[in-house]
Amino acid sequence: MERLQKVLAHAGIASRRKAEELILAGRVSVDGQIVTTLGVRVDPRHQRILVDGIPIEAERKVTYLLNKPPGTLSTVHDPHGRPTVRDLLRDVPERVYPVGRLDADTSGVLLLTNDGELSYRLTHPRFGVEKVYRALVQGRITDGALRRLSEGVPLEDGMTAPAKATLVWRGDRRSLLELTLTEGRNRQVRRMCEAVGHPVLELTRIRFATLTAEGLRQGSYRRLRPSEERKLR
Ligand code: URA
Repeated sequence: MERLQKVLAHAGIASRRKAEELILAGRVSVDGQIVTTLGVRVDPRHQRILVDGIPIEAERKVTYLLNKPPGTLSTVHDPHGRPTVRDLLRDVPERVYPVGRLDADTSGVLLLTNDGELSYRLTHPRFGVEKVYRALVQGRITDGALRRLSEGVPLEDGMTAPAKATLVWRGDRRSLLELTLTEGRNRQVRRMCEAVGHPVLELTRIRFATLTAEGLRQGSYRRLRPSEERKLR
């Protein structure tokens, strides 16, 4: 027997916290009874669990790749009505959730899935999934600053892990660099660049694991091919 919110999270319905919200909102039933309290234990193999009247196991596992435009939030709902990445997935019927986050101002590769286990494997630092960012930064970056980025930078939540930092070009007022990270801390690239004296002007994620946004205009998305999903797993 497992807690209902955990079962929902594992079924890829929502994060644990969001699953709790679904329960409290009266959208979840177990064997025909609406459950509105947290902590109820269920056996998903022998009990019929519905969210909005749909059996939780009925939804096939799907993953989409979005080329996120700047100005959209990496959530599925914003209480203030601002545009979210979910709004862009117009023809997607499944309840998919972003795999990790990109800042509102960051563009590029963002995966969305209803496969909770896959999402966990792709975001937990212990699996060390590579994320590659292109950052346009202020100022002419020095080799020393690039070295510091790659060796690790002290941030308020601790030292960053070693990363790959390569120069694409540098001018007198701006530089373009590529950073490959295996961690996924909040605003990590922006904070790292700021810490070495080069605030980020524009940020794009150009690769997540093996996936790039090649062939996708900003704002468009596609379903992953079975071979791509296999590789991710
Ligand atoms: N690092 C950042 O600073 N922002 C992002 O959106 C992703 C990584």
